[in-house]
Amino acid sequence: MTNQSLFEKAQAVTPGGVNSGTRGLPQPIVWERAAGAYIYDVEGKGYLDYHAAFGPIVLGHNHPAVDQAAAAAIAQIDLIGAGTTELEIRLAEKVAQHVPSAEMALIFGSGSEATYMAQRLARAVTGRKKLVKFQGCFHGWHDYLLMNIISAPEKIGRKDPASAGMLPEAIENTIVLPFNDIESLERTVKGQAEEIAAIILEPIPHNIGCVLPQAEFVRSLRSLCDEFGIVLIFDEVITGFRHGLGGYQEKLNILPDLTTLAKAIANGYPCAVLAGREELMMRFSSAGGDVFVAGTYNGHPVSTAAALATIAELEDGTVHKRLFRLGEKARRGLQEIADRLDIDMTVAGYGSVFVPYFMSGAISRYADLLRNNTEADTAFRNEMIKRGVFMLPLAMKRNHVSAAHTDADIDRTLNAAEDALKEMMRSRGLR
Ligand SMILES: Cc1ncc(COP(=O)(O)O)c(C=O)c1O
Repeated sequence: MTNQSLFEKAQAVTPGGVNSGTRGLPQPIVWERAAGAYIYDVEGKGYLDYHAAFGPIVLGHNHPAVDQAAAAAIAQIDLIGAGTTELEIRLAEKVAQHVPSAEMALIFGSGSEATYMAQRLARAVTGRKKLVKFQGCFHGWHDYLLMNIISAPEKIGRKDPASAGMLPEAIENTIVLPFNDIESLERTVKGQAEEIAAIILEPIPHNIGCVLPQAEFVRSLRSLCDEFGIVLIFDEVITGFRHGLGGYQEKLNILPDLTTLAKAIANGYPCAVLAGREELMMRFSSAGGDVFVAGTYNGHPVSTAAALATIAELEDGTVHKRLFRLGEKARRGLQEIADRLDIDMTVAGYGSVFVPYFMSGAISRYADLLRNNTEADTAFRNEMIKRGVFMLPLAMKRNHVSAAHTDADIDRTLNAAEDALKEMMRSRGLR
């Protein structure tokens, strides 16, 4: 079977042949196997993987300890769906131990469920309707927050719902602000304080690559929320565990009221967590409160065991040291190549994440990224795929180093990048 022939079968039975709107590729690839830093298609071609399934793969694909824990769990127990398990108790304990703002945790199957529950809880505890999000941040597929992610220039400053079929009331009640802009934040919060239930943000907006938060902006968020009784939600679905077991809140030393975690929490197994202050979390119906929470697969033993095994691998800090060192090597190496070739590139990133933007100048919010040369960005990724290095061929999407990547893998990536960029200079006149 070839990629092409199998993909044609996929298209016959699945809309577009893929199970997510962001999984389409310019050339059909049907995956067969994954191991460590590599992924393999049905034709046996191997790729060095930086996509990491949009971020979960932090230890490397099919990590033996994680897979063994998952296998041991399923050999012993499957889904019971009443009461709890020791695995669930241990995972909530671990989250409370490591994430500074977490006192209690609920376990879900996906990040969207966690952010959905976070906004519902915030609305319930405040008795208010409105949510504030930031341009460029993504918080999952539900109506309440699915807007203004990678917006067209003419949509900035206006509501930009990302889907047809969304409830107009949901769109109306979500306010979108520019990231790192204290003035608009203060103006909005002070003007509508009595209506705002929650402010939610990716502490690093990684859905547009990597835009670092300014310390003063995050401090303002915390103090405005305190002053006006607004729930502050850090969506750490990407940053949580990938950048440290304490999430990015630990690095910022600013604590949210609620935190959502997913992706790297279980190295690829479907697991997510909503964690927060006990006083808020006790409003959930699981504790007899009035905020309905449920989910047949919540706290599934396989995912929960995978999360515990992932945490165990991360606990002594050596993995994060390695991730940060290799990430820095990739960032510096790429920037050095682009500078030497005189290409307009800014390599952004943090920890294990690196993002080559095809632009120069400061980046503090989404509008700055409109200077990114999207065509060159996408072309570069496709050139890398041709050279056996898998970077998602969508502009601004982040690359992730995993613990399975080696120095030799990064060297190989840098060689491929230099070759790809030179080819783009020759064939497209890239500068
Ligand atoms: C920051 C952030 N929050 C929430 C989500 C939604 O998570 P899921 O796809 O697991 O529903 C994502 C997914 O990419 C994300 O990046």
